[in-house]
Amino acid sequence: MNDAWRALEAHYHESSGAHLRDLFAVDPGRAARYRIEGAGWLLDYSKHRINQETLSYLLALARSSGLEERRENMFKGEKINSTEGRAALHIALRAPRSSVIQVDGTDVVPSVHRVLERMAELARAIREERWLGFSGRPIRNIVNIGIGGSDLGPVMAYEALRHYSDRRLTFRFVSNVDYTDFAEAVRGLRPDETLFIVASKTFTTLETMTNAHSARDWLAGSAGSDSKAVARHFVALSTNADAVNAFGIPTDQMYEFWDWVGGRYSMDSAIGLSTMIAIGPQCYSEMLGGFHAMDEHFRNAPLDKNMPVIMGLLNVWYADFFGSETVAILPYAQYLKRFPAYLQQLTMESNGKHVTLSGQPVDYPTGPIFWGEPGTNGQHSFYQLIHQGTQLIPCDFIAFGHSLNPDTRGHHTFLIANAIAQAEALAFGRPLQKVIDEGTSAGLAPHRVLEGNRPSSLLLCERLSPAALGSLVALYEHSVFTQAAVWDINPFDQWGVELGKQLAKRVAEEIVSTDKILQHDSSTNAAIEWYRAHHR
Ligand code: F6P
Repeated sequence: MNDAWRALEAHYHESSGAHLRDLFAVDPGRAARYRIEGAGWLLDYSKHRINQETLSYLLALARSSGLEERRENMFKGEKINSTEGRAALHIALRAPRSSVIQVDGTDVVPSVHRVLERMAELARAIREERWLGFSGRPIRNIVNIGIGGSDLGPVMAYEALRHYSDRRLTFRFVSNVDYTDFAEAVRGLRPDETLFIVASKTFTTLETMTNAHSARDWLAGSAGSDSKAVARHFVALSTNADAVNAFGIPTDQMYEFWDWVGGRYSMDSAIGLSTMIAIGPQCYSEMLGGFHAMDEHFRNAPLDKNMPVIMGLLNVWYADFFGSETVAILPYAQYLKRFPAYLQQLTMESNGKHVTLSGQPVDYPTGPIFWGEPGTNGQHSFYQLIHQGTQLIPCDFIAFGHSLNPDTRGHHTFLIANAIAQAEALAFGRPLQKVIDEGTSAGLAPHRVLEGNRPSSLLLCERLSPAALGSLVALYEHSVFTQAAVWDINPFDQWGVELGKQLAKRVAEEIVSTDKILQHDSSTNAAIEWYRAHHR
């Protein structure tokens, strides 16, 4: 805890009692003051429990944590993922061809564009019906098999950009090792019209490899044992060429990426192949343009006019000073229905860390829990708690000026009116006197009071285009980075997921080999025995 932190803490104790009603009342220019535009997005953060002093303390904290230097190190390809000895260079995935970004003395930009070109060739071949299945019929169904970053990005992007997709093609996504996921995904599909994309950075992930083998069996059931015929129905997205070959996918059907791309930062690497097939190479390149525009904004805008920096610092403000444990992501766009799920991995796998970069235990809360649902559905479910519950839950409202499906009954206006109204209700509430003036009985009045002072950001954009999606994702990536810098943690590793994987492997072996003596705790032993007895 440094001086900047202590100064912010003192400021919190002095200022945190202020109500948003008063902050707005004394400052008519508040909305204009707390507003940033960049990369096609407008951020209104005036409904946050801050004033000019708060901002200067937060920015001082960011500077004292070396945010600017850390950011430069990321853009320069330094090995900032120190616990894995790797760079974290997702920004290179969307860098223009003319850029030079070096890792270990080698410019990685040409390789990025080479893979993009190969992806575009495949996307065009499928969309123009030139990629044929084993019976000579064109591919109509694309099934992405992957999990975590190899699934959440592709499925989120497909749903988000569905409006731009080739509607002759069917897209399905298989992630869970529960066979049901696979069985339901291929239900009704013709094997000879189906292409499986096996997406796995490591090509060793249990869920993905199990599903990939089931896919091969499913195909072989129709195509027979001719491995060449089967191979035509598989492509791989990976960093592990040997494992891809061993699986039987020819090298020219592997689309590579690199160890400097983290799984949850990979939706715009080769992992985005399903997205590119869906929306076509041109729209895909517009999406990359949106990512890049936000990268430039993050790198160059002054900290006090920098959207990801301000959003990240606000998360720190609530998590560490107000004790908020969660952040709600509320897109008022049905196409963004998987965006909260996508952000859960991006934010929580990145910043759910308990030690600093040098391995010391942190003595302050790190990554909050991210969750959410599209509006207006959430309003009829959990918003009650956000308005009147005992927890302080900062909310991100995301809304667009235009619908992609224009209607004659004003759906879009109702949709956006709700987003705006919810932010207003959260901030200003309904005080007791107003409730009484409205004629509510004394007994009922307290139940109808909304205390307000509940913070939210409003993120606005013209329309949900590929570029808008790219810049939105990059906005959150860099906000996560900003938080990690302040917390002095590594947002690019995920050691916490390893133990569960190892234990699951051991338990699976023990279940199968019933003669193995169980040496876990009594509860784990009992669960294994229960399953052995029931799964016969
Ligand atoms: O288990 C966590 C994780 O390693 C994620 O970080 C990653 O996105 C996911 O598994 C899938 O990994 P892979 O792409 O190597 O199959």
